[in-house]
Amino acid sequence: MKHSHDRQKVKQRIKITRRQRKQRGWSRRRFLLVGLTAAGTVVSVFAARPIMWVGQYVQASLEPHRDFSVQGDTPLRERAAAKGLLYGGSVHQRYLTEDVPFTQQFIRECNVLVPETQMKWFRIHPDVDRYDFSGADWLVNFAQQHKMRVRGHTLVWHHSVPTWLKQTLTRRNAEQIMVDHIQTVMKRYRGKIHSWDVVNEALDPNLRRSDGLRETLWLQSLGDSYLDIAYRAAAEADPDTMLVYNDFGLEDNSFRQSGKRQALLNLLKRWRDRNVPVHAVGIQAHWRAWENFFDPQQFRNFLKEIAAMDYKILITEFDVDDFSLPTNAQFRDRVIASLYEDFFSVVLQEPAVCGVLTWGLSDRYTWLLTEGRRGRKVTPRPLPLDDQLGRKLAWNALARSFDQTFKR
Ligand code: XIL
Repeated sequence: MKHSHDRQKVKQRIKITRRQRKQRGWSRRRFLLVGLTAAGTVVSVFAARPIMWVGQYVQASLEPHRDFSVQGDTPLRERAAAKGLLYGGSVHQRYLTEDVPFTQQFIRECNVLVPETQMKWFRIHPDVDRYDFSGADWLVNFAQQHKMRVRGHTLVWHHSVPTWLKQTLTRRNAEQIMVDHIQTVMKRYRGKIHSWDVVNEALDPNLRRSDGLRETLWLQSLGDSYLDIAYRAAAEADPDTMLVYNDFGLEDNSFRQSGKRQALLNLLKRWRDRNVPVHAVGIQAHWRAWENFFDPQQFRNFLKEIAAMDYKILITEFDVDDFSLPTNAQFRDRVIASLYEDFFSVVLQEPAVCGVLTWGLSDRYTWLLTEGRRGRKVTPRPLPLDDQLGRKLAWNALARSFDQTFKR
C-alpha cells in the first residue's frame, strides 16, 4: 500500500518538473540545441580556425588579382645571389647519381646543397668504432664541382641515431662520445661547409619543462649543458663555419607550438649571456596547407627579436604539405604558391636572413612521398618544381620574393 503511494508521489513530482521545465521552455529539444551549441563552440575553437584559414587561402588562390608573374627565366640561384642570398635544397646522393635531368635542374637552380640523410649520425657513424663518410664526401665534392655551398645537417639530434648509440650512452661517456663525433665529422669537412646544424630540434612542442627543452637521450645523459658543450666543441673543430640551431614549428602560431618561440628566444639570450658560439637560427618551416597558422606580423617581430640579439637567420627546410586540399592540381598549386609568397615576402623583409632552402627541389623527390602517406589521395606537390621538373607557381612565388627584396 505504502509502496504504491510512494510511486504515485514520484510520478507526480516528475510531472511537476516536466511541466515546470516546459513552462521555462526547457524542452528536450532545447537541451539538445544548447548541447549542440556548446559542442559547436568547442569545435570552432579547435577546428574552425584552420578551416577558416584554408577558406582564406582558397579565396586568395581564386582571387583573380593574385599575380604570380615573373620577369625572364633566370634561375632561383641567380635571383637569390643578386640579393646576396643563398637558395638551395636538400638532396640524396642517389638522385644525383641516377637521374640526369633532375641533376641538371638541381645544378641550375641551387647554389647551396644540404645532404638529406648522408651526414646524420646513423649514416655517417653507423658503428661505435666506424665512420662511413662515402655519401657525405661524394655530396661535398659534387657541390664544390658545381660551385654550390654545403650545409651540414645534423650533429646532435634525438632522431636518426643508430641503435649502438642508444645502447651505449651513459652519463659517464655521453660527453666524450658527443664531442668526438662532432669533432671527427666537422674536422673532415673543415673549410668546406657554409653552416652546420649543430643541434636539431632540442625544443619540445609540448613544453613539459619550464625551459622548453625536449627530453632526449642527450638531455637525459648530460642535462641542459649538452647544448653549450656541443657548440663549444663545434667552434673548436671548425672556427670559420656558421653554427646553427635548427628547429621546426617556429612560424606556427597555433596552440600546439605556442611557447616554442619564447623558449627559443630565452635559449638564444642565455647563449649570448654565456658567450656560447651559436651564430644563426635555422627555421625549418614545414608547412601544412590545410591548417595554416601563420601570423605575418607576429612572425616578423619574432625575426626582429632574433636579429636584435645578433643572430643570422636561415630558412632551412621549407615545403608545403597539401595533404587534404582538393585534388585538382592547378588549384593546389595556386594555394601552395600563395603560401610560399605570404611566407617569403615576410621572411625576406628581415636583413638578418641570409638564405632560403626548400626540403628538396622537385616533387619527384620529396620526403612527403613516404612521410604521412596513409590516407593521401594524390601525390604531394610541396616544392618549386613539379615531378616532371617543370616550374610551378611556387617557383614563381619564390622568384618574385627574391626579385622584390633588397640586396644584403
Ligand atoms: C627527413 C628526411 O627527409 C627523410 O628522408 C628521413 O627519413 C627523415 O628525416 N626535420 C629535419 C630533417 O631536420 O632531417 C628531416 O628529414 C625532416 C624534418
